[in-house]
Amino acid sequence: MTITQTSFAFVSDLVRRETAMLYDPGKEYLVEARLLPLAREAGCPDVDSYVAKLVTNPAERDKVLDALTINETSWFRDNAPYQAFTDMMLPPLLAARSHVRHLSIWSAACSSGQEAYSLAMLLDQHLPSGWTAQILASDVSSTMLDRVRAGRYSQVEMNRGMPATSLVKYFSRTGSEWEVCDDLKKMVRTQSLNLSTPFPLLPTFDIVFLRNVLIYFDLDTKRDILRRVHRVVASDGFLLLGTSETTLDLDEHWGREAHGRVQVHRPTTTAAEQWQPTAMTGA
Ligand SMILES: C[S@@+](CC[C@H](N)C(=O)[O-])C[C@H]1O[C@@H](n2cnc3c(N)ncnc32)[C@H](O)[C@@H]1O
Repeated sequence: MTITQTSFAFVSDLVRRETAMLYDPGKEYLVEARLLPLAREAGCPDVDSYVAKLVTNPAERDKVLDALTINETSWFRDNAPYQAFTDMMLPPLLAARSHVRHLSIWSAACSSGQEAYSLAMLLDQHLPSGWTAQILASDVSSTMLDRVRAGRYSQVEMNRGMPATSLVKYFSRTGSEWEVCDDLKKMVRTQSLNLSTPFPLLPTFDIVFLRNVLIYFDLDTKRDILRRVHRVVASDGFLLLGTSETTLDLDEHWGREAHGRVQVHRPTTTAAEQWQPTAMTGA
């Protein structure tokens, strides 16, 4: 490990300021490993000289943010949340939304889109005819959003959780990659959205998947995000977090119901009850 503490502090401050993601001391090796390819690409002999370049070259900073946002994801990740989606969430929502016959879902921090398209496949299989659904796939990384729109995945990515029947049904081969079909692409809308800053105007969502991203934030940021997500979830809607994430002790406006191994979070107060007159900056 050669990165200096000064360079590490500069990079971790940058990432924290722009995305709220924490790179605490001890993560130097990770920062160095992720920035080394960028340093080489920029013709720098080592990561320190690359970081020195960042100070005067803001355009290069986006690449650093992209390299340091952790984009780990897979199809039907952890399985159980998707089981809860079809068995626990869809039935009451189908009954409650029979007048509009539409569902609105948010994959917040969607990475390369496996979460959003996994949900789209389940909706294709479980929505009664005549119903529509829209999935908002948002992320802070524009590279990830480009990937969602392209909907193209390598064989290695497909091997991570894609059932053979769904591969055949929803994907076609494009060169060495697999591309998701247009019907699923039409269900998924992308939006650049930084969870750590006030949200733009958003619709009310029936279900929010906010999985495997809160872990990267400090307590205050987690609380703030959960409070703002609460305002855009329908009062009879659902919130799914990652396996190691919880609303417990963070925000009293959420209740928790177990579905097998999964904790499903539900609003306990309405958004209007939670609204504070001082919160004028968006959701
Ligand atoms: C580990 S992936 C999770 C992907 C997916 N939700 C899942 O569970 O498989 C975390 C994602 O959070 C995104 N992210 C990090 N900070 C963010 C922020 N402040 N706002 C929005 N997205 C952020 C990253 O770009 C990355 O795509």
